[in-house]
Amino acid sequence: MTAFPETTLQAAAGSPFDLDDTAAYVAWRTHKLAAYPQAVDELRVAVAHGGELSGAELGKAHRALQRANFFIYHLPEPGGDKPLVRQLGRRFGLERLDNNLCADDDGISSLRVVERRREGEYIPYTNKRLNWHTDGYYNRPDEQIRAVILHCVQPAATGGESALLDHEIAYILLRDADPELVRALMAPDAMRIPPNVQDGRVIRPAQGGPVFSVDSGGHLHMRYSARARNIDWKGNSTTHAAAEFLLNLFQQDSPYIFRHQLKSGEGILGNNVLHCRTSFEDDPAGSQTRLLYRARYFDRVVDMRNQ
Ligand SMILES: [Fe+2]
Repeated sequence: MTAFPETTLQAAAGSPFDLDDTAAYVAWRTHKLAAYPQAVDELRVAVAHGGELSGAELGKAHRALQRANFFIYHLPEPGGDKPLVRQLGRRFGLERLDNNLCADDDGISSLRVVERRREGEYIPYTNKRLNWHTDGYYNRPDEQIRAVILHCVQPAATGGESALLDHEIAYILLRDADPELVRALMAPDAMRIPPNVQDGRVIRPAQGGPVFSVDSGGHLHMRYSARARNIDWKGNSTTHAAAEFLLNLFQQDSPYIFRHQLKSGEGILGNNVLHCRTSFEDDPAGSQTRLLYRARYFDRVVDMRNQ
């Protein structure tokens, strides 16, 4: 099991994520909540020319990213292909793709219902409900997923709605309830992800680590899955209370949670926020089978406008 680098766990002095600096936290929290969108429409960006965003469109996208860590783009044409997803990512400094187990040869995954065994064991490749998580929470410490693009080529016949929650809001809600809940989730051994074993072969070794960490740029990063079998929580009452708090958060209808059903030619680009998906039904006879492209990056979104 690879250890999480200690340097990424603790926030620097003056950081809002430093549990010992209440003033920095309160100032950041006040600004964050005042700017947080009231409705998902505030996070939509219509793009006039494919992957080429204009200055105004980029400005709108970055404003949304600052407020909620993601935005929803609408391209002028339905469909879309992988080069376009790649091009979009590059406009936001997203370059280094994660070639995970199920990614296609180009590093971008085609999410659709598949019968093949390996992919079929992962819920993203079925039509079942997908519980709350951040992408790649099981990845090695040095391969954390900082940003994700989810592009809809074709929606399902029915269902398949996404819900999203900025992980910074989850942090605020936990810290407001009790800072010790956050402290427990920042512990380097807060959770352990069991190994992925198939046919007696270890596909991915066990991985431990924190839920919350702070990257070298001072940004908050979150690793999480609400699926009980995916995580062994550290065996103390505060860690379990924190995990329980998050579960309860997702079971309520919260004004902080945004819901959106992606249409063809739409996508979500963000800093790997918390998200989930309802179940869906394809209609193969009517050629209405869901296809999404998913690009996972080791990079976090960068504002490229002044570079
Ligand atoms: Fe995901």
